[in-house]
Amino acid sequence: MADVAPKEDEAALQAAMLARARAAMALSHAPHSNFPVGACVRAVSGQLYAGCNIENASYPEGWCAETTAISHMIMAGENQITHVLVIAEKQSGATPCGGCRQRLSEFVTKDAVLYLCDEKGVSQTLPFTDIFPSGFSL
Ligand code: THU
Repeated sequence: MADVAPKEDEAALQAAMLARARAAMALSHAPHSNFPVGACVRAVSGQLYAGCNIENASYPEGWCAETTAISHMIMAGENQITHVLVIAEKQSGATPCGGCRQRLSEFVTKDAVLYLCDEKGVSQTLPFTDIFPSGFSL
């Protein structure tokens, strides 16, 4: 999938999600790791929700960009994610951490898509299930 040029509507979605994630990343509060991250989720409605990582001097109390994006989605009254995009300023192809995979798995549709990015834009497209094939559920 990654090597195939995206269809026009998918390219537009990628561009919109990337812009939102980059804008979120610019707001990152990461004075401890100096590792800004931005994320954007697309809900089934088509609405996009973005987030950045927010750290704390008591390190484990910080949280990830994906978690902030999920929070915005939930507070807007939505709970189904069709697409996830993650970008990290200092790491090409950064993937969601283990905790965020579990958090995202609570809300992703069964065929949800994950976009990974490098400095130029989306560099890889894969099914969310590829990175979280057998997550815990109650
Ligand atoms: N981080 C995210 O925001 N998302 C991830 O999926 C991986 C890690 C953040 C957490 C912390 O603020 C920084 O990156 C360094 O670990």
